[in-house]
Amino acid sequence: MDSKKLAGEKAVEFIEDGMIVGLGTGSTVYYSILKLSEKIKSGLKIKAVSTSNSTTQIAESLGITIVPFNEVDCVDLTIDGADEVDSSMNGIKGGGGALLYEKLVALSSKKVIWVVDESKIVNTLGKYSLPIEVIPFAHHHIFKKLENLNMNPVIRKINNDIYITDGNHYIIDLFLKNIEKPYELENQLRLISGIVDTGLFLDVADFIIIGGKDGVRVINRK
Ligand code: A5P
Repeated sequence: MDSKKLAGEKAVEFIEDGMIVGLGTGSTVYYSILKLSEKIKSGLKIKAVSTSNSTTQIAESLGITIVPFNEVDCVDLTIDGADEVDSSMNGIKGGGGALLYEKLVALSSKKVIWVVDESKIVNTLGKYSLPIEVIPFAHHHIFKKLENLNMNPVIRKINNDIYITDGNHYIIDLFLKNIEKPYELENQLRLISGIVDTGLFLDVADFIIIGGKDGVRVINRK
């Protein structure tokens, strides 16, 4: 079976009746949403909040009602994907452009599960680009600052148009190769005015479900 499907479906076993569930974004969590919709049809009662317009669209098309994030006080369990995960269970997210809402929902969640395939597991973060979400008004100035810091910024585009997030911001991808000190980097970036958030998700995940050729393994934060 597809590794993403294995991981995505496994995560749904953690959902219990009555929970408020955060639905992440991407091709792995898609399988969680699909499985969840089957369980709802079989009688499971949950409320769901979404981390992106695309997830809302998929969930609603499968009969899952999405509640506005501001109408819940906290989320019981969020299932989301990731672009990279290191051995400390820190990760990079935002490849799909949904990092801000994903982080907001994760930080209001009692438990967070990431569903990934083996290809996402790395020793050190940074092989994948690090997306940061920025205020359009100042994107040129933020870009210059990042360039001066040798962070190899690239403004994200789709078909020559600047990519616009669900929160109406831009994304700048940083090509850093090796993020040796993720906590220092996060602090450094967050001090630059106009950076709304970064794709560094540090100490956020409680469980990682990794799908591979031989099945799934679940890692949890001790
Ligand atoms: C969306 O912005 C991302 O954070 C995704 O969660 C991440 O890119 C994982 O997506 P896939 O499961 O499609 O690889």
